[in-house]
Amino acid sequence: MKKIILITGGAGFIGSHVVRRLVNKYEDYTIVNLDKLTYAGNLENLIDIESSSNYIFEKGDIVDKAFVDNLFLKYAFSDVIHLAAESHVDRSIENPMEFIMTNVVGTVNLLNAAKETWKNNFEGKLFYHVSTDEVYGSLGEVGLFTESTPYDPRSPYSSSKASSDHFVRAYENTYNLPTIISNCSNNYGSFQFPEKLIPLFIHNIKNEKPLPVYGDGKYTRDWLYVEDHAAAIDLIFHKGKVGETYNIGGFNEWQNIELIQLLCKIMDEKLGKEAGSSAKLITYIKDRPGHDKRYAIDASKLNKQLGWQPSLDFEEGLEKTVSWYLENDIWLSNVTSGEYLTYYENQYASK
Ligand code: NAD
Ligand code: DAU
Repeated sequence: MKKIILITGGAGFIGSHVVRRLVNKYEDYTIVNLDKLTYAGNLENLIDIESSSNYIFEKGDIVDKAFVDNLFLKYAFSDVIHLAAESHVDRSIENPMEFIMTNVVGTVNLLNAAKETWKNNFEGKLFYHVSTDEVYGSLGEVGLFTESTPYDPRSPYSSSKASSDHFVRAYENTYNLPTIISNCSNNYGSFQFPEKLIPLFIHNIKNEKPLPVYGDGKYTRDWLYVEDHAAAIDLIFHKGKVGETYNIGGFNEWQNIELIQLLCKIMDEKLGKEAGSSAKLITYIKDRPGHDKRYAIDASKLNKQLGWQPSLDFEEGLEKTVSWYLENDIWLSNVTSGEYLTYYENQYASK
């Protein structure tokens, strides 16, 4: 079946993996990638597919209602896969308003455009909203987030994502807009902007800079290889039930400090350094305000109902990821010039 799919945020980390997967796998679909190209959006992430005949790039801002409405008039979209967002917790602590604008207002602009364009016929249409496990809040030592865990967002980022999830459900409930939401745990892999833990620490180890560990380093995250997230999105988009929510996670919990030790070991091996050299760069710094203690996803619904499971174990995925960053030195230097330097100075200088 021919589809014209709007993917928002397709020049970002996860979005670029989703765009690549769909463009390569479904030749009869047209994929329209709408991205504002913020500091986190980078067309270099898509060089390998940019001249594919079923791929179109549109630069624009989802906060700009007129632009979004016009885009829906220009293309007869059959579906939306919405990933565009401000995504970094530390930036949300410094500047919540940008998160409210893009993550809440931008999402509502897209919902309105889809509702208005599709209102006479919702048959075969889908608005798929990509969200995060952070909407569920913070766990203690035990327990997992399920699809029915009550929302308890605790940072400006997670509050803005929770708000967008609520709007998506409200549009389904009030206007019958066909929607699906997935909430995923921490992703890692190629093309992730080096403000997030894993690529930041790879970059710093390479440049023999301190590794800034927040607090006692005993915070826990559940890590998933980004291509496994893209595969889950593909599966849910095609086989998921309208109106449902699916949790996606790696069944792979790591305390930050244990993950960092493993990363240091892999980096020592890859860079041919003496064992223990990279770990000497570990520096404990002031904690992130309101730092969520632990995230862990129960992805058994997705596993049981749609048969999804992660394809890689963590050590294998981390090794592949380290190799990618070391082999793609130019990509890393391009994204760590300019605005990055100012951000880095502000975020870490005084801590
Ligand atoms: P990212 O920051 O790498 O990419 C975001 C993309 O959105 C960028 O290309 C950026 O240019 C674009 N964008 C930002 N504001 C925009 C606007 N106003 N208009 C149009 N485009 C805009 O983010 P990511 O890590 O790839 O995350 C993608 C989505 O997945 C987000 O919705 C995020 O909340 C969610 N998510 C991320 C993770 C993770 O671990 N990274 C986990 C679960 C869910
Ligand atoms: O859980 C899903 C979420 O994962 C996504 O929704 C977010 O978009 C994504 O950014 C990520 O959020 P986190 O805050 O968990 O990711 P981050 O890489 O920023 O941090 C991971 C952990 O490492 C967290 O406990 C904070 C810690 N950390 C992070 C940085 C950047 C440090 O100790 N030092 C650092 O310099």
